[in-house]
Order: sequence, then structure tokens, then C-alpha cells
Amino acid sequence: MQKVVILIFICLVVFFIPDSGNADTKAGCLVCHNNMGGKIEYQGKVIDLNVDAEKFEKSVHGFLSCTDCHLGFKENPHLPPEGALSKELQPIMEKISIKAKADPTAMVACYNCHTQIYNDVLGSVHGKNIVDKKSTDGAFCLDCHGTAHYITKSTEKSSPVYQFNVVETCGTCHGSPELAKKYNIEAKVMKSYMESFHGKKHILGHKRAPTCVNCHGAHEVKSKDDPASPVFGKNKINTCGGCHKGANEKFVAAITHQEAGPIPHYAEKGLIILTISVIAFTVTHVLLEAYSDIRDTFFRKKKEVEHESSEEYTS
Ligand code: HEC
Ligand code: HEC
Ligand code: HEC
Ligand code: HEC
Ligand code: HEC
Ligand code: HEC
Ligand code: HEC
Repeated sequence: MQKVVILIFICLVVFFIPDSGNADTKAGCLVCHNNMGGKIEYQGKVIDLNVDAEKFEKSVHGFLSCTDCHLGFKENPHLPPEGALSKELQPIMEKISIKAKADPTAMVACYNCHTQIYNDVLGSVHGKNIVDKKSTDGAFCLDCHGTAHYITKSTEKSSPVYQFNVVETCGTCHGSPELAKKYNIEAKVMKSYMESFHGKKHILGHKRAPTCVNCHGAHEVKSKDDPASPVFGKNKINTCGGCHKGANEKFVAAITHQEAGPIPHYAEKGLIILTISVIAFTVTHVLLEAYSDIRDTFFRKKKEVEHESSEEYTS
């Protein structure tokens, strides 16, 4: 009997301690970080030390403890102890730490819960840019999802990857001519998308019009020359076919980033000139008409009166 009681007691302790322990750590971290203002330079990079507790609670990760991402962190000392990472995470952290500003363990922690997505990003053109080219130019989680502590669901308007925000988010990098030049990619992808049939529909709020992500994917973005890319060769039949039933090779040749050809280009310009001319002509016509009416009713009558009276004098 005594043994059972002890066993239950141990079970309860094991069950409750990690939980309350986590909650305490979070409160303990927030004692300082919820009340810190401003930014500091930390190991050569500017970081914002404030964590808004209320905003954090409302984020998708509000139920987590700080140490679920800041692995191995203790209130004191601050730096995570050596060996805080598992054998699985350590090498991944080394690959992506170039993108970290303050705590690379937090940048690798996502892997624990979003493993598939994390691997997709590592294998994408963006991930390869970071891992293989050891560059910070490629997009990683926070470049697309925003500040780590305030991530919201992609279906919410506050998310940078919300359907009607994501184009702008890709544009933070793909709108840069310098970046395009550096990687030898077409510089006008944003402009050509905006001017495309799809882009125009998207701007009008059309929910079924594709954004960048519908054609390129979100996490597994590939170079257009990579046979695994959804916009490579015949893969386009599937990509476009998702929305355009019966899309064939001829149809998919119409590409989003192509400059409008000379005929539609001049046809559009011509139509604009024609419309303006017609409006200008109508306005001039109405003004002239009004002018002649005014002249007839005031100016002409007066002249006639003057004329008549002068005739009277002379006779
Ligand atoms: C006593 C106040 C205090 C507490 C408690 C505290 N911090 Fe900090 N934290 C700071 C200060 C000050 C800095 C500025 C850089 C430094 O001194 O390390 C900082 C920096 C940081 C940084 C960025 C730089 C770095 O050291 O990697 C992270 C991440 C961080 N804290 C996380 C946490 C977490 C997670 C907890 C709870 C486990 C926590 N802090 C608890 C005061 C505190
Ligand atoms: C979902 C994972 C996650 C959780 C939960 C989380 N953080 Fe972070 N935190 C990050 C990531 C990722 C970074 C960016 C690390 C980097 O750039 O090196 C970061 C950065 C920081 C920084 C440095 C600020 C900066 O500008 O980079 C501080 C301070 C910090 N966190 C404190 C906290 C505190 C306190 C909590 C708990 C209330 C917490 N974090 C919870 C993921 C998390
Ligand atoms: C301890 C597990 C855990 C860790 C670590 C973690 N997440 Fe999450 N994350 C979740 C869970 C669970 C959800 C779903 C929450 C919900 O549906 O309310 C989520 C949701 C998300 C979402 C929103 C998904 C949507 O519905 O649009 C994004 C984005 C995200 N996490 C990114 C990250 C990033 C980036 C990191 C690393 C900095 C990270 N997560 C670390 C567990 C985790
Ligand atoms: C190039 C931009 C980009 C990068 C980098 C990125 N994401 Fe996303 N993520 C998106 C978009 C866009 C969505 C919205 C869903 C969609 O359209 O597939 C999304 C959705 C999610 C979701 C919700 C689940 C889902 O598939 O809908 C989670 C979780 C997530 N991302 C986690 C991460 C993590 C973790 C990382 C880093 C390893 C990351 N993301 C990197 C753009 C990105
Ligand atoms: C309707 C599908 C579609 C949409 C929407 C779309 N793209 Fe593309 N994208 C393509 C296709 C197809 C190609 C390959 C072009 C080619 O074959 O020359 C491509 C190529 C690219 C390239 C490589 C360009 C080069 O030639 O170097 C980039 C970068 C790119 N897209 C980014 C974007 C961004 C950013 C958005 C959102 C603003 C976007 N795309 C929207 C279909 C699309
Ligand atoms: C943080 C900056 C950044 C963000 C945000 C970003 N990208 Fe990129 N992207 C890059 C860089 C840098 C490259 C070139 C990588 C290389 O070639 O090494 C690239 C390459 C690409 C390519 C391949 C171009 C080719 O060679 O054919 C496509 C497609 C692409 N991005 C689409 C997107 C889409 C879609 C989004 C939004 C969901 C996005 N990117 C967000 C930086 C970014
Ligand atoms: C996410 C869905 C989606 C995807 C993916 C998509 N489109 Fe569209 N597309 C639309 C919508 C919506 C319209 C507007 C239809 C309308 O209002 O009549 C449209 C219109 C068009 C038009 C104008 C003429 C017409 O048939 O209405 C062309 C051409 C076109 N798309 C080509 C493509 C090509 C090529 C691809 C693949 C590279 C593609 N689309 C991928 C949704 C999509």
C-alpha cells in the first residue's frame, strides 16, 4: 500500500514538475524581457530585447515556454550551456547559424516541431543559398513569418504570409534589383506579376487568383531551372492545371513574368490615347457650346441694343 502511494506521488511529481517548471521559467524570463526597452548591439548585431508578453500570448506559440525554443537557456547564466542541443540538432544549427542574430538554438528549435517544413526549407533554393553559399541573402523562417515571438496563423490578416500580404513579403527581396543582379535572376518579376492578368485580379481582391506561392510553393521554392520546380517545363501543366482545367502545353506557355508583347502593348497605349481624345473632344465641344450660349444671350443682345440705339441717334 505504501509502495503504491509513493508510486502515485512520484508519478504526480514527474507529471507536474516539468510543466510548472516551464511556466516559472517563462515568467522568470519575462520579468526582465517584458520590461526591457530599446535595442542593444549584441555580438555585432542589433537586437531588440523586449518581448511583449501580451502579444506573445496571442501568437501561435503563446502556449510554449521560452525555453522550448531558447533551448537550454536558464535565467542565469544567459548563454545556453554547452551540449544543450541533441546530436541531431547540433549539425543543423551549425549550418544555419549564419542567419541568427542572438540565439542560433532558437533558430533550430523549430525543427523539433515542424520537421518536414524545416527540411523543405533547407532543400529549397533559399535554404541552399544559406547552407551551401554561406550567405544571409536567402529567405529563412523569420524572413517570411516575421518576428519570432509574434507569429500568427497564415489565415490571419496580421501574418506576413496571409494571402494578401505574401506578395509584398516576397517582394522585400525580389523587388531589389541588386539582389536580382547578384544571383542573375530576372529583376522585374514583381512588376511583371502585378501587370499580369493574375496580378491585376489579385490586387482587386480576387481570392482564387494565384500569388507567388501558388506557382512556386512556399517552403520548397526551387530555381526555375531545377527539374523539381513546379514551373519547370511540363510540371507547369500540373501547376496551372490546378486552377485551369484541361491546361495543355500550349496554354502553359503563357507565363506570368513575360513582358507584354508589342501588339498588346501598343493596343493598350492606343486605347488610352483614343479614350483621352474622345473625352477631350467632348469636353471642348461642351465648353464651346456653353460659350456660344453665353455669348448669344448676353453679348449679342447687348450689341444689338447698342446698335439699335446708335441707329436712333444717327437718324
Ligand atoms: C535578470 C534579467 C533577465 C532575465 C531573468 C532573463 N534575461 Fe535574457 N537578457 C537580459 C539581458 C540584460 C540581455 C542582454 C544581453 C546579455 O547580457 O546577454 C539578455 C539577452 C537575451 C537574449 C539575446 C542574447 C543572448 O544572450 O543570447 C536572449 C535570447 C534572451 N535574453 C533570452 C532569455 C530567456 C529565454 C530567459 C529565461 C530563461 C531570459 N532571457 C531571462 C536579461 C535577462
Ligand atoms: C517559437 C520559438 C520561440 C519562443 C517560444 C520564444 N522565442 Fe525568443 N526568439 C526566437 C527566435 C527564432 C529568435 C531569433 C534568434 C536569432 O535571430 O538569433 C528569438 C530571439 C529572442 C531574443 C533576442 C531578440 C532579437 O531581436 O533577436 C530575446 C531577448 C528573446 N528571444 C527572448 C524570449 C523570451 C523572453 C521568450 C519567452 C517569453 C521567448 N523568447 C520565446 C524564438 C522563440
Ligand atoms: C515546441 C513545438 C514548437 C516549436 C519549437 C515551434 N513551433 Fe511553430 N507551432 C507549433 C504548434 C503546435 C503550432 C500550431 C498552433 C496552432 O495551431 O494554434 C505552431 C504554429 C506555427 C506557425 C503558424 C502555422 C499556421 O497555421 O499558419 C508558424 C509559421 C510556426 N509555427 C513557425 C515556427 C517557427 C519559425 C519556429 C522556430 C523559431 C517554431 N514555429 C517553433 C509548435 C512549435
Ligand atoms: C519564402 C517564404 C517562407 C519561408 C522561408 C518559410 N515559410 Fe512557412 N509559410 C510560408 C507561407 C507563404 C505559408 C502559408 C501557407 C502556404 O501557402 O503554403 C507558410 C506556412 C507555414 C506553416 C503553416 C503550415 C502550412 O504548411 O500551411 C508553418 C508551420 C510554417 N510555415 C513554418 C515555417 C518554418 C518552421 C520555417 C523555417 C524552417 C518557414 N516556415 C519558412 C512562407 C515561408
Ligand atoms: C501563374 C504562375 C506564377 C506566379 C503567380 C508567379 N510566378 Fe514566378 N515564375 C513562373 C514561371 C512559369 C516562371 C519561369 C519563367 C520562365 O520560364 O522564364 C517563373 C519564374 C520566376 C523567377 C525566376 C525568374 C528568372 O527568369 O530568373 C522568380 C524569381 C519568380 N518567378 C518569382 C516570383 C514572385 C516573387 C512571384 C510573386 C510576386 C511570382 N514569381 C509569381 C510562374 C509564376
Ligand atoms: C530574404 C530574402 C528573400 C525572400 C523574403 C524571398 N526570397 Fe526568393 N530568393 C532569394 C534569393 C537570395 C534567391 C537566390 C538564391 C540563389 O540563387 O542562391 C531567391 C531565389 C528565388 C527563386 C529562384 C529563382 C531562379 O533562380 O529561378 C524563386 C522562384 C523565389 N526565390 C521565389 C520566392 C517566393 C515565391 C518568395 C515569397 C514566398 C520569396 N522568394 C521570398 C531571397 C528571398
Ligand atoms: C491559384 C489558381 C491559379 C493558378 C495556379 C493559375 N491561374 Fe491562371 N487564372 C486564375 C484565375 C482566377 C484567373 C482569372 C479568371 C477569370 O476571372 O476569368 C486566371 C486567368 C488566367 C489567364 C487569362 C485568360 C483566361 O483563361 O481566363 C491566363 C492566360 C492564365 N490564367 C494562365 C495561367 C498559367 C499559364 C498558369 C500556370 C503558369 C496559371 N494561369 C496558373 C487562377 C490561376
